[in-house]
Amino acid sequence: MNESICVEHLNYAYPGVEDTPGVAVFTDLSLSIEAGSFVAILGSNGCGKSTLAKHFNSILLPCGGKVYVCGMDTSDDDLLIKIRRSVGMVFQNPDNQIVANVVEEDVAFGPENLGVASPEIRRRVDQALKQVGMYEFRKHAPHLLSGGQKQRIAIAGIIAMEPKCIVLDEPTAMLDPRGRREVMETVMELNRNKDITVVLITHHMDEAAMAQRVVVLHKGSVAADGTPEQVFSQVELLHRIGLAAPETVELCYELGQQGIPVPLDCLDIERCAQAIYDRMT
Ligand SMILES: Nc1ncnc2c1ncn2[C@@H]1O[C@H](COP(=O)(O)OP(=O)(O)OP(=O)(O)O)[C@@H](O)[C@H]1O
Ligand SMILES: [Mg+2]
Repeated sequence: MNESICVEHLNYAYPGVEDTPGVAVFTDLSLSIEAGSFVAILGSNGCGKSTLAKHFNSILLPCGGKVYVCGMDTSDDDLLIKIRRSVGMVFQNPDNQIVANVVEEDVAFGPENLGVASPEIRRRVDQALKQVGMYEFRKHAPHLLSGGQKQRIAIAGIIAMEPKCIVLDEPTAMLDPRGRREVMETVMELNRNKDITVVLITHHMDEAAMAQRVVVLHKGSVAADGTPEQVFSQVELLHRIGLAAPETVELCYELGQQGIPVPLDCLDIERCAQAIYDRMT
């Protein structure tokens, strides 16, 4: 497998401050993410998703074990700039990620910091804004845009750095359904058409169901890993660790509990309705 991210026996604990003890998050986590794939990471609050994501572009460094990004060891200081170029991060709150007063200046900020030449920056900014469907807003003030639009500007700023991989940590958590849809469509298109590896951390099961692979973290370990159908049909495991399956699967599971077995791998509404209809007729 051509790996984009490879985590080998990761051990990480946040250091304690003064009298407070440190917080052990991972003791021995291994995981690899294939280049060009779209992987969703799920897990209950505090299980270590954001801590893991921060290892993907050297914001945090392993206490033990290794993290490789496009074959580069994230602990190697000399590779820091190359690593940050390869993996772009998008966080939950778009307001914290926007730095300029004009949309196109904001998108240019990343490539400027990487020392990209001006004409090339112009080309990248225009292209990135077109890719996220925000080109017509290029002269606007970001703070006047909607949450979904701001998040797409933040994504454009990342794309303009031409990363091989984008890691999004709950990018839709603060958005309404329309904003969520806009961001998800943008992300899926980047994966499909630009071959960018996407790692999406989310609490929304319907978003995770759009990925090719779902990884469930629990207490610093991988509790489930597979296609959305494989992972979400393990309803009882998900319940045990405080998660729910997508609503369609929960419905089929509940029917099964009531003595009406329906397959648990129907993630979209049409397929779910058909499976229930088939069972009833
Ligand atoms: N800066 C920090 N210092 C000390 N402990 C921290 C720090 N950041 C996170 N932690 C602890 O590390 C553990 C993992 O936190 P993390 O933020 O990675 O979880 P998460 O899975 O992203 O949770 P959520 O779903 O709420 O975003 C938690 O126990 C948390 O309290
Ligand atoms: Mg988090």
